[in-house]
Amino acid sequence: MAKSELEFQVHPYVQFMTDRHDPYHRWVQKEGLPILTGEYIADVKDAQLAPWERKGGKGAILSFTDQLIADGYICEIGPGGQLKPQHHMYEEIVFISEGQGATSIWYEGGPKHTFEWKAGALFAIPLNAHYQHFNASGTEVVRYFALTSAPVAFEMFRDESFIFNTNYEFRDRFDPTDKEYFSREGQYFTEYYGGILHTNFIANIRDINLVAREKRGKGNRNMYIHMAGSSMFAHVSRFPVGTYKKAHRHGPGAHVYMLDSTGYTLMWMEGEEPKRFDWHEGSIVCPAADKWHQHYNTGSEPCRFLAFHANTAVQREEKGIEQINFQDEDARLRDMYFEECRKSGVQVDMAHALQPA
Ligand SMILES: [Fe+2]
Repeated sequence: MAKSELEFQVHPYVQFMTDRHDPYHRWVQKEGLPILTGEYIADVKDAQLAPWERKGGKGAILSFTDQLIADGYICEIGPGGQLKPQHHMYEEIVFISEGQGATSIWYEGGPKHTFEWKAGALFAIPLNAHYQHFNASGTEVVRYFALTSAPVAFEMFRDESFIFNTNYEFRDRFDPTDKEYFSREGQYFTEYYGGILHTNFIANIRDINLVAREKRGKGNRNMYIHMAGSSMFAHVSRFPVGTYKKAHRHGPGAHVYMLDSTGYTLMWMEGEEPKRFDWHEGSIVCPAADKWHQHYNTGSEPCRFLAFHANTAVQREEKGIEQINFQDEDARLRDMYFEECRKSGVQVDMAHALQPA
């Protein structure tokens, strides 16, 4: 590879403006919640939360990639409880980690759309629509994970009052007179590589159809999900027992929520040693922009995960997504996988990776 150098990483004036304003991080600090930094949490259900005045429940903010594109948060609704009504000028995708309840969504003065959900449900809040979440159980908590584009909104508007008190209705995204908006069956577009599901509510993320995405590895299946006219999106990936996906890298903002099986993810910047993150259901890994990452299934069932994306997560400038073919990978990493499978008694199914391209 040709040698290159950076003249500078961030223009000094951009740095000056960021230091001076930094509106998103100031807002996060003001919310008074635990701020989870880094690139991984072991389990959404175990994360320490604190009372969240704005929501009326408990919460923590995941400030992972620190690239002002998308951030996650975890929120809990106590037994028999409900959160305060909200609306905001940033997008949000919600995944129910545990519990059962309902959500109402509306524009001011318009009809309320209410739908029920339980663990495994995925939906998006249409931009700036009013919404309220309810816990349907008197004994169990609800916990959900959401990815938002709040960093982009705060950087752009630098005005908390505008973000939370504007009543503009984005009717091209959410038409309140559409009674089936949250109940209509989703539409699959399988002619696109990786597949796209266009819907506004998924009752159980494990039930959606997947299509082959073999370029990511043998037996890989996939479906992209686009909801509520959002510029953010999600995708489900599934890969078999005894296999791992090819390492790849892309832009910032992807949060990978593990659903099924157990295993680990290796992440590394070019030229650095990989760092390992063990996962199970409820773990989240978040590769920073340009960081190589590779998911390894060492469990006894196919691995399934749900990745949440900022609108820029997939593209890496003009190059799109880069991946490392099995034939070109670091053999030490393959050996590590074989050893981990031996320890957990899993039959490795990677013979194809050892064949010449
Ligand atoms: Fe990725």
